[in-house]
Amino acid sequence: MSDRIHTLSGYLHEYQKSATQPEEFWARIADSFYWRKRWDRVLKWNFDEPNVQWFVNGKLNITENIFERYLFTIGDRPAIIWEPSDPNEEGRTLTYKELYQEVCRFANALKSKGIGKGDKVIIYMPMVPEAAVAMLACARIGAIHSVVFAGFSSTALADRVNDCEAKAILTSDGNFRGSKKIAVKAIVDEALEKSSVETVIVYQRTKQDVTMKDGRDFWWHDVIASESAECVAEEMDSEDMLFILYTSGSTGKPKGVVHTTGGYMVYTKYSFENVFQYSSGDIYWCTADVGWITGHSYIVYGPLLAGATTLMFEGVPTYPDAGRFWAIVEKYKVNQFYTAPTAIRALQAYGTDVIQGYDLSSLKVLGSVGEPINEEAWHWYHTHIGQNRCPIVDTWWQTETGGIMVSPIAGITPTKPAYATLPLPGVQLCIVDPEGNELKGNSVEGNLCIKFPWPSMIRTTYGDHDRCKQTYFSTYKGMYFTGDGVKRDHDGYYRILGRVDDVINVSGHRMGTAEVENAINEHPKVIESAVVGYPHDVKGQGIYAYVICDMTNRTEDNLVNEIKEMVSKIIGPIAKPDKIQIVPGLPKTRSGKIMRRILRKVAENSLDNMGDTSTLLDPEVVTKIIEGRK
Ligand code: WT7
Repeated sequence: MSDRIHTLSGYLHEYQKSATQPEEFWARIADSFYWRKRWDRVLKWNFDEPNVQWFVNGKLNITENIFERYLFTIGDRPAIIWEPSDPNEEGRTLTYKELYQEVCRFANALKSKGIGKGDKVIIYMPMVPEAAVAMLACARIGAIHSVVFAGFSSTALADRVNDCEAKAILTSDGNFRGSKKIAVKAIVDEALEKSSVETVIVYQRTKQDVTMKDGRDFWWHDVIASESAECVAEEMDSEDMLFILYTSGSTGKPKGVVHTTGGYMVYTKYSFENVFQYSSGDIYWCTADVGWITGHSYIVYGPLLAGATTLMFEGVPTYPDAGRFWAIVEKYKVNQFYTAPTAIRALQAYGTDVIQGYDLSSLKVLGSVGEPINEEAWHWYHTHIGQNRCPIVDTWWQTETGGIMVSPIAGITPTKPAYATLPLPGVQLCIVDPEGNELKGNSVEGNLCIKFPWPSMIRTTYGDHDRCKQTYFSTYKGMYFTGDGVKRDHDGYYRILGRVDDVINVSGHRMGTAEVENAINEHPKVIESAVVGYPHDVKGQGIYAYVICDMTNRTEDNLVNEIKEMVSKIIGPIAKPDKIQIVPGLPKTRSGKIMRRILRKVAENSLDNMGDTSTLLDPEVVTKIIEGRK
């Protein structure tokens, strides 16, 4: 545990070391892992291509750093504690040894279906331990997993299957969500009308009826039945792909963010242990879904690499009532609790009565992730959940960064409401003005960039390296551009201000405005649309869509509902616009560009300062849009 930060001066010392001698710093951290063959060189990089390689020529398997590493010491310790959606159903606990055996069995099953090193496997599953087993089994045999959040539609699923040329889909019959049962396998069947895979393995969760296609579809329990509980791990190169995870950008379809093995392993464990100050025997709970990067790095990989006990919850915060999170904290004596501001705000709305009566005294650290946390929510979390005793770690990072970049070290870095505070060791931030000049010193505001590689960073966007270059490395030369605005205050503390591109963040879920527009435009009556985000009390940002429609034979109400359904069908319910305004036209410049600035102002109801509208082709349209505001 020599890599653990214990004091503020310890943090400052480590930070200095990581900035002045990054290779020595990361070599020291990486040396505490098990490598089949040590690396020849710590780092090779240039941000122009970009080409980043960590622990060059190192050979390893990430799962050996979870299982072989811990089996003889903490093999009987719980690795995963699972709490089902229905509180009356029995939970499950898998020790490290049991998890190892499940992973091996399933890894062998994948192999017997002809899946091996380099093959892509889509995981479209509910929050059950088998989702983690599936990820680790892929890693064990060198297959590349791509987890797709089970709330995405069949179209979104098919797009991802096609983009990564998946050989198999791992899924379930259904999924419990609150009081609802969702027909997961049926969505997979629909997706497979627009794409194809050789094998589908179905985990039985809800026992609902499903159709199984002969020769393609198999039950999970059948394929593992005769498999051995031992499976020798495949030897991987440090830079071999570990997984692809799709995320939205400001243009086009979601892109497959590629993470590789060695660097991701080193960074997720290091950041997990330090940020949350996890101690042996603690119960750690992150409420995210494994379909997002938070679930990858801080439910599965980070905690398990650290030998931690990670709790997995299948349900939602409000089922059977709004006290569910606190009931779970009490039941398992959770020590570190990590959730999203949108969940905090949603629960805040139910008042503090639902918290009373639950024993939250086990809590030591509270975490926040996914979107800026407003001061009010921060204080509520601190007072009512943390009982003014638990430090809050507001962790800023992204799918592309792989791990937490800016965050307090729990209990060590002094916190400030709504501030992610300071960068972790190894993270060299840089604030730039729109021209790309670095803004040095404190009390500055601009765009957030990172000027030096870190081990868990994105390597490429799957199948389209140029897109990776254009999106992240071309806006400002020689730097990774995050897409976020940021302020560094007089103390040198960082406060993330939100996206400065056309990405919106709805309940911590990332959405491209263009992606939502494309879905809206699929409706036959839609002529054109423009989507913007606007401040929303619970979701952080809501989706506001301006739509030009052919209204013949239609009323506004039925069109609006049809458009919402269309978006839900094409992307998923999370992308459904909160407000749709049918408009006669959109504010365009003479060159045909939509002036989104104006649409954002109208959506957020700040009508007094519309800025310069003189370059508009038809300024009248703005008046009409304001009149019809939702
Ligand atoms: C975007 C990345 C990182 C896991 C979940 C989201 C926003 C994330 C914070 C935070 C302010 C935050 C940023 C970022 N974001 N965490 N603590 N404070 N904003 O991952 O879907 O890749 O989204 O989420 O805007 O760019 P993601």
